[in-house]
Amino acid sequence: MFSRSAFCLRGASKALRNFSVASQHQQKVAVLGAAGGIGQPMSLLMKESPAISHLALYDIVNTPGVVADISHICTPAKVTSHQGPDDLKGALEGCAAVVIPAGVPRKPGMTRDDLFNTNASIVQTLTEACAQFCPKAIICIISNPVNSTVPIACEVYKKAGVFDPARILGVTTLDVVRAHTFVAETKGLNVEDVKVPVIGGHSGITILPLLSQTSPGVSFTDEEVDKLTDRIQNAGTEVVNAKAGSGSATLSMAYAGTKFVNSVLDALNGKQGVTECAFVQSDVCGTGYFAQPVELGPNGVKSALGYGTLSAYEETKLQELIPELKKNIKKGEEFVLGK
Ligand SMILES: NC(=O)c1ccc[n+]([C@@H]2O[C@H](COP(=O)([O-])OP(=O)(O)OC[C@H]3O[C@@H](n4cnc5c(N)ncnc54)[C@H](O)[C@@H]3O)[C@@H](O)[C@H]2O)c1
Repeated sequence: MFSRSAFCLRGASKALRNFSVASQHQQKVAVLGAAGGIGQPMSLLMKESPAISHLALYDIVNTPGVVADISHICTPAKVTSHQGPDDLKGALEGCAAVVIPAGVPRKPGMTRDDLFNTNASIVQTLTEACAQFCPKAIICIISNPVNSTVPIACEVYKKAGVFDPARILGVTTLDVVRAHTFVAETKGLNVEDVKVPVIGGHSGITILPLLSQTSPGVSFTDEEVDKLTDRIQNAGTEVVNAKAGSGSATLSMAYAGTKFVNSVLDALNGKQGVTECAFVQSDVCGTGYFAQPVELGPNGVKSALGYGTLSAYEETKLQELIPELKKNIKKGEEFVLGK
């Protein structure tokens, strides 16, 4: 007999398998921070991806145990264990994509920006290794604060002389996943049919769901717009508070991160019309970086799609988020540039 949670996991992984085309081109993917709350379930879900031939799991602690466990699963992807900085080369060489959930998560009362002091140097060190050992890989950054860690990675790549903005992406998929769930619940829709773009950044007021662009077309009262926007912006805090000190979102993030990486791999393998929201280098709002729908291709971001027409409410929220986003981005850039 399977338990209810085993059925849920099977359902989730079946849904994720469907995101990925069965591909002739299987790829090596590294997870940096693989033994963590996100890293473990994400590695589990990625072990089922038909697009991955080799899953290289890296952490500074506990990697052998995670790898021994996951490698017993009877799916084709080979799993290798890499622990400590001396083993970064082995983890990264030959990677088509690298996903980075390394770093500390929030505790109740903390903002994502409070994680900056610890996570900035972790992301700097890890992306320095990526720039050295797999400069062409698509880098998918989960570590918070994403609004600052993506600029950190970009500055690291610039310093190393290998920067290509199309290949460094901040993962904001969880905001989109939450928007789909909450909108479907509010309006009684089938969640699998709902699409809501989420733009801006990945923290507090910088997260801006574009409810006016919800598909299928649906109308919201002003009160619904306000409540849904606030819930999507603060959904991470909802999880942090419910976990009461034991961390932030891990399982939903593992789902979202796997969905994102599968889309990146599908596009690398030639699938056309693959789009995801991501936090990327972009001057669409004069901030230097901006989360928006992007079309993915064989080299990462093929084109940033912008955000179309906004409602008056969204336009006001956009103007409010810009100064905060600029501040977060500057902090990341200056961390590497040493100002
Ligand atoms: N982008 C998003 O939507 C999103 C959502 C949730 C959480 N996060 C962020 O993801 C990060 C990880 O969260 P978590 O819950 O998995 O935390 P966790 O503490 O459970 O796991 C983090 C892992 O990173 C490892 N680590 C630390 N320093 C490292 C280094 N230098 N190299 C490699 N690995 C290292 C740790 O050993 C640990 O295994 C946090 O910054 C969190 O805020 C992002």
